[in-house]
Amino acid sequence: MPFTSNRAFKARPRMVARAKDMYYYTPEGRPVMDGTAGLWCSNAGHGRDPIVQAIQKQAAELDFAPSFQYGHPKAFELASRIAALAPADLDHVFFCNSGSEAADTALKIALAYWNVRGKGSKTRLIGRERGYHGVGFGGITVGGIVPNRKFFGSLLAGADHLPHTYNREEQRFSVGEPEWGAHLADELERIVALHDASTIAAVMVEPMAGSTGVLPAPKGYLKRLRELCTKHDILLIFDEVITGFGRLGHAFASERYGVTPDLLTFAKGVTNATAPMGGVIARKEIHDTFMTGPAHVVELFHGYTYSAHPLACAAGLATLDLYRDEGLFERAKTLEPLWAEAVMSLKTKPGVLDIRQVGLTAAVDFEGRKDAVGKRGYDALEHAFHEEGLMIRTAGDAIVLTPPLIVTESQIAEMVEKAGRVIEATA
Ligand SMILES: Cc1ncc(COP(=O)(O)O)c(C=O)c1O
Repeated sequence: MPFTSNRAFKARPRMVARAKDMYYYTPEGRPVMDGTAGLWCSNAGHGRDPIVQAIQKQAAELDFAPSFQYGHPKAFELASRIAALAPADLDHVFFCNSGSEAADTALKIALAYWNVRGKGSKTRLIGRERGYHGVGFGGITVGGIVPNRKFFGSLLAGADHLPHTYNREEQRFSVGEPEWGAHLADELERIVALHDASTIAAVMVEPMAGSTGVLPAPKGYLKRLRELCTKHDILLIFDEVITGFGRLGHAFASERYGVTPDLLTFAKGVTNATAPMGGVIARKEIHDTFMTGPAHVVELFHGYTYSAHPLACAAGLATLDLYRDEGLFERAKTLEPLWAEAVMSLKTKPGVLDIRQVGLTAAVDFEGRKDAVGKRGYDALEHAFHEEGLMIRTAGDAIVLTPPLIVTESQIAEMVEKAGRVIEATA
């Protein structure tokens, strides 16, 4: 099982067999409140009729279309809809099937772009400590979560990392983006001084580092990173696999921060996680750079059999309609202050060391057990599921809550109460 403690799971499985709106149901029919939007992806909640119907209809109409040298209308329609949601001139979309593929696709586009521009020495890829960009070799190379890297050899050559942006002393219990930390973007200057900008292709970061346990960008940090990338002619890639499609109260976090990257990756929420899909949005100039040479020649030697799969495209179109019709991005924005207040109330629970929050996300760090890093976190996961009927994520000794954007005010109160009892029970 992926990223799972297999033996512990099999000893006491956490199985779900059905889902509707804010709830999963175990095979026995016990409801489990979804505190995680699946894996940060079921933003409109579960089993939503318009999406179900769109997938059913599509399966009967066009089950598959070859993605190399052929197309189908819904792929172009969805690309246009996504581009319209993205800021500025981010207006061309390349589809793949997951966040990991999106990360590797973005890195490959960056490398190829410099090649096509005649600057083939720009090959270095810069990521950030504690970053998560999926599990492909490109993603783990620029990623910064140690166990995801250390077992897998030397990874891609020529990568470097910015420091992560977390400092508990300076940021403890910040509501939203912490005040402290914008200066950490200046570390890019040190990396440029060491390697020279003529060797650096791209910098890739998450606007909010999710998988490591919710590290919101410090105020002003992303703007500074953008300025430095522009100054040194380095592409800036935002990994918006989690932050895309409403999680931070906007279609994309780049809108929240008023910062436009050169490439933007998405996945998860694009189909409300009902069908696998990911993608990369590129600025017009990047797209146009590739559109040279004889017209019969392939411009980008990259792609997947299932790029823009018809079922995923149908699911994506129905999902974007639902987000629009129910105003879910705006809903996340409206709920954010109430959410922040609710999760910060967990401050007084036993052993809580810090709480971080941005958009409809939160992480609660608590003291772990002596000599057993992550054990209290695991106990919390089990207790939440079996005793409280709550699905949570954990990141070491922290619990992470990221509910579907349809969550109601009373469900937020209930979720936080359940989480509080989990923290007490595992103290
Ligand atoms: C920021 C980010 N990038 C990439 C990924 C990888 O996505 P996938 O699991 O679909 O490959 C994730 C998954 O959580 C993510 O959070």
